[in-house]
Amino acid sequence: MLSDTERDELEEALKHYPDKRAGTIDALLLLQRRRGWISDDSLVDIAQFLDMTCEDVDSVATFYNLVFRRPVGRHVLFMCDSISCWIMGCERVRERLHDHYGVDVGQTTSDGRLTMLPIACLGHCERAPAIMIDGDVYGNVTPDKVEEIVEKYR
Ligand code: FES
Repeated sequence: MLSDTERDELEEALKHYPDKRAGTIDALLLLQRRRGWISDDSLVDIAQFLDMTCEDVDSVATFYNLVFRRPVGRHVLFMCDSISCWIMGCERVRERLHDHYGVDVGQTTSDGRLTMLPIACLGHCERAPAIMIDGDVYGNVTPDKVEEIVEKYR
């Protein structure tokens, strides 16, 4: 069930939409910021708030890869694996993350600090390979540089 604060925040965030269902992604991201991820219970809460079916909300949630339908770590690192990043060595960056933090794509570190997920092109191909952590995009990432970057996210 939505808390009063969550309900107020959702009302405020969606008030400019003529039909609040148009704000489904906003609603998902807002509740995710509060709860860490979108559980089935959260999905039901949003569906009730938006007068939508759970299936319709879930189809938006699963289509949009910044919505997490499983628990994630305190920080989420998206690893671009599209063509430019692949050519420019994203695999070496991924290997360094695996060696140093014991995490691979689709996994979370044992201390819950970092989840690594794949993503298609981040739109920074001219600075490939690129990664994104908690919404911050980094380009020209090397194996050495990626450790330095990740250390900023405790
Ligand atoms: S291919 Fe990686 S940012 Fe475009």
